[in-house]
Amino acid sequence: MTTQRLDDVRSRYREDALQRGINPRDVDLLLSDLLGKPISWLLAYGETPVDPAPFVALLARRYEGEPLQYIRRRTEFYSREFYVDERVLIPRPETELLVETAMEHAPRGGRVIDIGSGSGCIGITLDRERPDLKVISVDRSMEALAVAALNRTRLDSHVALAASDLMSGIDATFDVIVSNPPYVPQGEYEELAVEVRIHEPRMALTPGPLGTEIIERILDEAHTRLADDGHVILEVGYGQEESIRALAASMKFHVDAFLPDLAGIPRVVVLSAHAE
Ligand SMILES: C[S@@+](CC[C@H](N)C(=O)[O-])C[C@H]1O[C@@H](n2cnc3c(N)ncnc32)[C@H](O)[C@@H]1O
Repeated sequence: MTTQRLDDVRSRYREDALQRGINPRDVDLLLSDLLGKPISWLLAYGETPVDPAPFVALLARRYEGEPLQYIRRRTEFYSREFYVDERVLIPRPETELLVETAMEHAPRGGRVIDIGSGSGCIGITLDRERPDLKVISVDRSMEALAVAALNRTRLDSHVALAASDLMSGIDATFDVIVSNPPYVPQGEYEELAVEVRIHEPRMALTPGPLGTEIIERILDEAHTRLADDGHVILEVGYGQEESIRALAASMKFHVDAFLPDLAGIPRVVVLSAHAE
């Protein structure tokens, strides 16, 4: 084993990462994970001799396009740490708006279904933030459900988890149907960054050529699954506002709100059923 000064390894690879268009902070986070020390320690103890080999192996994965969250096996969502790996989509910050909107619309003691649990980030957060709610989170992917179950245990949640194709396997009605569904049109999927296309599950990203196929199926099922005065709350993709409004109107849903994310992109839609 050949050792080098931590300072030297750090500055060399921070520079190298920058040249390759990778955030130099990734270097610090990987070093911090490997050494089991906070980043502040790296700065204070730069003289420490370290073996760069295991670090370089991790960094090579990052250089090849593997997302940092999968390499580190974790990410933060709504101030909690979720385990993630390639079986699930990496939770995105804009999905926190979906969770907040669901909480605003869920009545006390209400029943909520989260369709497409992935890591469990939506269902587990709702359950932890609003213990009065009865939350079930479903996914068609057994692999995703295994990750959600792991997060449920780690985060001390009581969310119910079930394998189901949308709501077909669940016999109940809900006050809130919430989902971050796959919504990327197939054509756009082929053009996604390699980090997303090669590493994240295809089933989590694209539902078909239009991008709205799963949303349409959710609205169709919601006709018989939404309680009176209930809401369907969905995350949607960039540029989908118009098609979602048209879809909602054709399926007899009222658009109560279209909420922008921090970048100003219409991202979360709140729908209620028309009275017949
Ligand atoms: C965009 S990901 C969202 C994951 C997680 N809720 C999040 O926000 O990070 C969509 C999820 O829907 C699941 N899914 C796709 N089609 C489904 C279906 N027909 N029924 C149930 N879940 C489905 C995928 O497996 C994936 O976990």
